[in-house]
Amino acid sequence: MPEAAIALEDITRTFSGQAGDGPDSGDQGIPVLKGITLDVESGAFVALQGTSGSGKSTLLHIIGLLDRPTSGSYFLHGEDVSTLDDDHRSDLRNRSLGFVFQSFYLIPYATALENVILPGLYSGKPRTELTARAENIMERMGLADRMNFRPSRLSGGQQQRVAMARALLNEPRIVLADEPTGQLDSTTSGEIIKLFHSVHESGTTIVLVTHDEEVAREADRIIRLQDGRIAEDVKTG
Ligand SMILES: Nc1ncnc2c1ncn2[C@@H]1O[C@H](COP(=O)(O)OP(=O)(O)O)[C@@H](O)[C@H]1O
Ligand SMILES: [Mg+2]
Repeated sequence: MPEAAIALEDITRTFSGQAGDGPDSGDQGIPVLKGITLDVESGAFVALQGTSGSGKSTLLHIIGLLDRPTSGSYFLHGEDVSTLDDDHRSDLRNRSLGFVFQSFYLIPYATALENVILPGLYSGKPRTELTARAENIMERMGLADRMNFRPSRLSGGQQQRVAMARALLNEPRIVLADEPTGQLDSTTSGEIIKLFHSVHESGTTIVLVTHDEEVAREADRIIRLQDGRIAEDVKTG
């Protein structure tokens, strides 16, 4: 059996510091993930669905090593990541994971090209190498004539393509996306989904949060969260 890209066992996440409004709400915290057990095969394209507040972003942040579970175990490409310290986690995140968010989080005063290579500079790779790689990715994404534009001069779809190029720069084995088409019209959304497809076809594992049924249909597996638990897990296509 191929090694799972992501293996979660009985993951819980409880947020504290939000005292409820009742006198008995105490300090037990608010359970948001209530026991998530899940394997994602290497190379899979998974859509994560569920109503607002069901825990999708919380789960994606844990998978993306941006947050730690309250309990449970997490193996990333076979490596137990729950015991790693913050430095090793950031290192692993930079090397293996790419993120795409609903808000593109581009730096407004930097050009599209600079936005793509800036995070890569932290890895210590030479700027010339990063630039060459970024140009190559951006050309494939139809951004060849937009590299020197600032984000404010780009359409929403172009901004999201810049954010995707940035996520792909380090050739991550896994791409995590949180409502990447949430701010886009349906035509533009379709273009972005096509890009996710080609990324998937190159062998990258994708976990994509969406409440758009049309976007979810593009995945080969749909996992539905409900109130912090997996309510449904179906293979499609
Ligand atoms: N940092 C946090 N502190 C306290 N509560 C949080 C925090 N992040 C998320 N929550 C709560 O956890 C629940 C699930 O949030 P989230 O994972 O963002 O849901 P989704 O992405 O499915 O809409 C919500 O009730 C939210 O208010
Ligand atoms: Mg969310």
